[in-house]
Amino acid sequence: MNTARVPPMAFVAGWPIGHSRSPVLHGHWLARYGLVGSYLPLPIAPEDFAEALKILPKIGFVGGNVTLPHKVTAFERVDDRTPRAMRIGAANTLIFDPDRGIIADNTDGYGFIENLRAARPDWRGEAGPAVVLGAGGAARAVVAALQDAGVTDLRLTNRTRAKAEALAEDLGGMITVVDWSEAEAALDGAATVVNTTSMGMAGGPPLSLTLDDMSEGALATDIVYAPLDTPFLQAARARGAQTVDGLGMLLHQARPGFAAWFGHEPEVDADLRAAVLGAAVLGEAR
Ligand code: ATR
Repeated sequence: MNTARVPPMAFVAGWPIGHSRSPVLHGHWLARYGLVGSYLPLPIAPEDFAEALKILPKIGFVGGNVTLPHKVTAFERVDDRTPRAMRIGAANTLIFDPDRGIIADNTDGYGFIENLRAARPDWRGEAGPAVVLGAGGAARAVVAALQDAGVTDLRLTNRTRAKAEALAEDLGGMITVVDWSEAEAALDGAATVVNTTSMGMAGGPPLSLTLDDMSEGALATDIVYAPLDTPFLQAARARGAQTVDGLGMLLHQARPGFAAWFGHEPEVDADLRAAVLGAAVLGEAR
């Protein structure tokens, strides 16, 4: 581990990494709080990741974020894991601790719930059934977070049913797997509806569901944030649902890592949103 007194450095490692918005996000916080430190994008190929993980703590890094395709490898290669990372089986945040070694955390579910609560302070998991569309890596964090937030009736539906069944079995609790052909009907009576699929993402497949059965007053949120106002959110709003966009999840998931690396609890506010969105508009980050 690094013992030299150099300003702390953190990273986001991915392959590719050029489009990550995290450097702008953390850079904004560092500047805003007047902290000495840096946050760098590191393009690390999958075959180099294990080696990089050995070197980074020795050359001044205090930790970092990991994104595709390293989230599961990182989880497997560390010395210690937080309970929420254990539950997901993947890491998005690494902390290099001088005593404990490399600790893997997963703050995606935390970011998801904090974003909902920030946008809708009266949101309660207990308010009623939740529907989660999709069963990929992001869905796992969302489902676990919804369970922790008190959702007891969770309807999980995915185009590939077997993946939804595997996720439900892994996470346990009151999860009902609904066939994709019944996804539209499953929206009936749901208090919370989450799109974790890539439908509606820029360059992704179109939204193939109609939301005619979504209740007026339901809370709909999308983890896709490019575009910010997704076809799913537009359709939900047309049904009279309240909507929360997915950018806030990205912003909130970054908070625990920043606090651990740089020693300051950062805030998510309109300035941060504007900085991250502005960078996207300028094409500096996506
Ligand atoms: P992530 O880790 O970000 O969730 P992923 O693992 O690639 O990404 O998952 C993408 C999700 O979008 C999956 O639930 C996927 O469904 P499948 O498991 O059937 O592949 C879903 N998805 C992608 N394209 C879709 C489409 N055209 N219609 C419905 N669901 C789709």
